[in-house]
Amino acid sequence: MIIALNNKSHLDKEEFEKYNEELETINTRHTLILCPSTINIPLATHKNYYLGAQNISKFKEGAHTGEVTATQAYTYDCKYTIIGHSERREEQHESNEDTNEKIKRSLDANLTPILCIGETKEEREENRYKEVLSKELTIATRDLTETDKEKVIIAYEPIWSIGTGIIPNNNQIDEVFSFIKEFLPNNKILYGGSANEENIDELNNCKYIDGYLLGGLSLKLENLQVFIDKIKD
Ligand code: PGA
Repeated sequence: MIIALNNKSHLDKEEFEKYNEELETINTRHTLILCPSTINIPLATHKNYYLGAQNISKFKEGAHTGEVTATQAYTYDCKYTIIGHSERREEQHESNEDTNEKIKRSLDANLTPILCIGETKEEREENRYKEVLSKELTIATRDLTETDKEKVIIAYEPIWSIGTGIIPNNNQIDEVFSFIKEFLPNNKILYGGSANEENIDELNNCKYIDGYLLGGLSLKLENLQVFIDKIKD
């Protein structure tokens, strides 16, 4: 299984150094990936985990103030990058076309993209979620070779579930995962959105989950250890 940790914009320098030390002691047989805030990347010792970025630029390099390129992230030992997190789609107005560019930049730089997709509460209630997800998947993977397409890890993160404590039921997750598999039968698919040490027993009963993308839980390492211990392969 893949356990990806998204620290978002948390942890200042001192806090991160302490956090990093504790993370190095986490006991797991799974693939652990830490995506710290970009500024903390050089402080991450990554002996016990792989390093990932939370975002990379859609540009290769050049005059783009404030941007970090995929190649730069790679030279700081990142092996993965999150792409198209819903917070970026909403706050930074990232489009599906942007996610497509970013996936291409990451693959060119040897980073494995973790593409986030997911519907809002309204889109779920109006039964438009499949339409939204298929658009996100189709545009993000446009013009990729079959081999490159398969390298993309998909993270299904319903927006109504992120940070809310509410998770979809297993039937809803299974349905979306089989839907994703119709587009990308060989890709790894993660679940993200309020996953924690309490609901993992329920999530364990889903059919296809290849791992988890964890926000809030990434900051609570004791609970993360409990979560990891409870994961059933
Ligand atoms: P959460 O966040 O686990 O705090 O819901 C997940 C994410 O935003 O990736």
